[in-house]
Amino acid sequence: MHPVVEATARVVDSAPVGRRYHRLLLDAPELSAASRPGQFFHLLCRDGAGNGPYLRRPMSIWRCGPGRQLGFLLHVKGRGTAALAALRVGERLSLLGPLGQGFRLEPGWRRILIVVRGVGLATLAPLTEAAAAQGIAVQAVLSAQAPEDLMAAEFAGDSGAAITSVFDSDGSSAVPAVEAFLRARFEGADRPDAVFTCGSNRLFLLLQRLAAEYGIPGQIALEQQMGCGLGMCFCCVRQIRAPDGTVQNLRVCAEGPVFDLQAALAW
Ligand SMILES: Cc1cc2nc3c(=O)[nH]c(=O)nc-3n(C[C@H](O)[C@H](O)[C@H](O)COP(=O)(O)OP(=O)(O)OC[C@H]3O[C@@H](n4cnc5c(N)ncnc54)[C@H](O)[C@@H]3O)c2cc1C
Ligand code: FES
Repeated sequence: MHPVVEATARVVDSAPVGRRYHRLLLDAPELSAASRPGQFFHLLCRDGAGNGPYLRRPMSIWRCGPGRQLGFLLHVKGRGTAALAALRVGERLSLLGPLGQGFRLEPGWRRILIVVRGVGLATLAPLTEAAAAQGIAVQAVLSAQAPEDLMAAEFAGDSGAAITSVFDSDGSSAVPAVEAFLRARFEGADRPDAVFTCGSNRLFLLLQRLAAEYGIPGQIALEQQMGCGLGMCFCCVRQIRAPDGTVQNLRVCAEGPVFDLQAALAW
């Protein structure tokens, strides 16, 4: 695994995406090549005038790979993400990483299914491309408030993932509707070898329940507010179920953010 480094990188693209999101691409070839889907960077959120919060903010790797710019997709929520979105092309950003344990793709898998909502889309986007590169077909359920929030192209990139979109605005994102869709997949010829999720508690609980029922392995990327991002402050612990049934407090930044789907507990 690549060592964690603190580096500065030049912004090469900074633009709004849809109604709530912002795209940030950095010139950081070594870090981009070393990054793995599911890992994250801890970003120092200072705008061009140096304004922003003291603590870094964790951000999933949205785009990475040899010869590619390192990309993040931000939901602008507060001071930190607003400072990041205010960065202009040519300005520099301090980043720490790559951090955490990413997603795992097992040899022999032919097909995976991803269920994602909101900014979880950024976290799982690079997995679609990694899977495609290994010849693994990707089917994805993208959940959003309304069609204008979907960002399917930002999710799938060049992966050729087959996307089913569901929305709050027409009721198709309701749990019973998504459950019927997933059951049809799990019982059909296109049953996935593994499932992945991020970004929604209710979709996580649904997927966890169905994956257990159908005996399909799964992984989830968890989010938690962070202090150091390096495993030292323990401010990011979440309760995770061990194989023997006991509950452990594990650090999302160090043991995660990706955990076994059945080990994660609802928040
Ligand atoms: C491993 C990891 C990967 C992440 N990847 C992304 C990503 O790809 N894109 C993205 O937009 N966001 C991502 N997040 C969430 C992002 O870190 C927070 O939204 C960000 O720190 C908010 O900072 P802020 O200063 O803008 O808002 P603040 O003013 O700090 O907070 C604004 C609101 O956001 C909530 N919030 C703050 N931090 C988090 C957090 N870590 N998780 C959930 N809610 C939070 C606060 O409770 C508050 O309600 C990720 C978080 C983790 C832990
Ligand atoms: S953020 Fe400090 S231990 Fe995870």
